[in-house]
Amino acid sequence: MSQTFYLLRNREVPQIGHMDVYREHGGYDALKKSLAEFEPEQLVDLVKRSGLRGRGGAGFPTGVKWGFLPKDGRPRYLVVNSDEAEPGTFKDRELIENNPHQLIEGMIISSYAIGAGQAYVYCRGEFLKGSEELARAVKEAYAAGFLGENILGSGFSLDIFVYRGAGAYICGEESALLESLEGRRGNPRLKPPFPAVAGLYGMPTIVNNVETITNVPAIVTHGAEWYTSMGTEKSPGLKIMSVSGKVNRPGNYEIPLATPLRTLIEEYAGGMQEGRSIKCVIPGGSSVPLLMPDKLDTPLDYESVLQAGSMLGSGGCIVLDDTVCIVRAAARLVKFYREESCGKCTPCREGTYWMTDVLDRIEAGAGNEADLDMLLDIADNMNGKCFCPLGDASLGFMVSAIKHFRDEFEAHVREHRCPLGAKVYDTVNY
Ligand SMILES: Cc1cc2nc3c(=O)[nH]c(=O)nc-3n(C[C@H](O)[C@H](O)[C@H](O)COP(=O)(O)O)c2cc1C
Ligand code: SF4
Repeated sequence: MSQTFYLLRNREVPQIGHMDVYREHGGYDALKKSLAEFEPEQLVDLVKRSGLRGRGGAGFPTGVKWGFLPKDGRPRYLVVNSDEAEPGTFKDRELIENNPHQLIEGMIISSYAIGAGQAYVYCRGEFLKGSEELARAVKEAYAAGFLGENILGSGFSLDIFVYRGAGAYICGEESALLESLEGRRGNPRLKPPFPAVAGLYGMPTIVNNVETITNVPAIVTHGAEWYTSMGTEKSPGLKIMSVSGKVNRPGNYEIPLATPLRTLIEEYAGGMQEGRSIKCVIPGGSSVPLLMPDKLDTPLDYESVLQAGSMLGSGGCIVLDDTVCIVRAAARLVKFYREESCGKCTPCREGTYWMTDVLDRIEAGAGNEADLDMLLDIADNMNGKCFCPLGDASLGFMVSAIKHFRDEFEAHVREHRCPLGAKVYDTVNY
C-alpha cells in the first residue's frame, strides 16, 4: 500500500530539507511556473477550482477565504499556522522538520496570489527543531533569490519571518495566534471582524494551516483537475492522517480523502497489535466525538465523518483499544483543555475545571450516581456558550464517551474502582 501520495512522497530522501536536494526533486519549479504563467487572481481561481479545504481543522475552502481579502490597497499578510498542539495530530511537525522548503515554496506562491509582501510562520513553542529547520531553509531561499526583492525578476518581493510561540494550545486559534504574534497574551479576539478583513496589525490577513499551504505547489504543478480527481466532490484531494494508539505502525499517512477509516487503520497503520481490539476511534484530533467500531467503514472525508457523528478535524486519528479505561481517557483529555483554557470566559474556565474534578472523582472510585448527569449538565451549559471554540472542543470526546460507554462510567461509580483494573494515577485526592 503506497503511503506517500504527494506531500510525503520525498520523506525518505536524505537531506530533502536542503535547497540543493529539494531542487533536484523538482523543488521551486512550481514557484517559477506561478510567477511566469499566472497572474495573482488566476492563482486564487486555481486554488478555488481545486476545492482545497483548510487542513487546520475546520475544512474551510482555501480559495474562498483568499477571495474575502478586501481590494482596498492596504498591506496584507499571510500567516501560516504551525501551532499544531491538538493531541493526536503530528503531521505539520513532520512537514516542517523534514521538508521545510515545500512549505516555503507554498508560502511564496500563496503570498504572490494574495498580494502579501510579508509572511509569517507561527510555530508551536515546543517545535524547536521545526522552527530551526524552517529558519535555516528561509535563509537558503533568500540566498537562492526565491525570497527578498524582485523574486526571479518578477517584480514581486517577499520576506518570511519564523516566529516561535511560548507553548499555548489556544495560540493555534487564529485570532489568539495573531494576538501572540503581535506580542500580547494569546487571548482570542471577538469575531467578526475575521482576520481576512482585520488581522495582523489590524490589516487584512490570511491564516492558513501548514498542510493547506504545502498543497499549493502541488496544485500549481498538476492542476486543479488532478486535485479534484481524488477524494469526493466536496472533499477533494489528499489529507495527511496522524495515526496513534496500539496499532502496529503508528505514524503519518497521506490518503486520498474518502479512504475508509478501516483501510487507514488496518492497511496503512498495519492493524491492531497482537491481542488488542478496537474499542473506539477519535478520527480527527482530541476535540472531536469518538466513533464506535461499527463506523469503521466510514469514508474519511469531511461530510461522511460528520454524518457518522464526528469530524475529520485536523486528522489526528487516535485508536483506543480494549484495555483503555474510557473514564481515564475522558479525564485525561478534559484535563488538557482545563490546562489550556485561556480563562477569558467563564463557561470554559469554570466548566473545564469542574468536569475534570468530577471525572477524576469517578476514576478514583469516589463518584456518585448524580455525577454523570452533572457532567452532561456542565457540558450543556458550555456548549455554544463559550467565547471561542476551545470550550466546545473540550466536550466532544467526553459527551460521546458517556453516550456510548455509560455502563463503564456507572460501573466505576457502583464498584468504587475501575472495572478494567486500570490503576488510578494523576488524580486529585479523594
Ligand atoms: C483551540 C483551537 C486550536 C487550534 N489549533 C490550530 C492549530 O494548531 N493549527 C491550525 O492550523 N489550526 C488550528 N486551529 C484552527 C485555526 O483557528 C484556523 O481555523 C486555521 O489555522 C485556518 O487554517 P486553514 O483554513 O488552512 O485550516 C485551532 C482552532 C482552535 C479553536
Ligand atoms: S472558550 Fe476557553 S479558551 Fe476560548 S476564550 Fe473562553 S476561556 Fe479562553
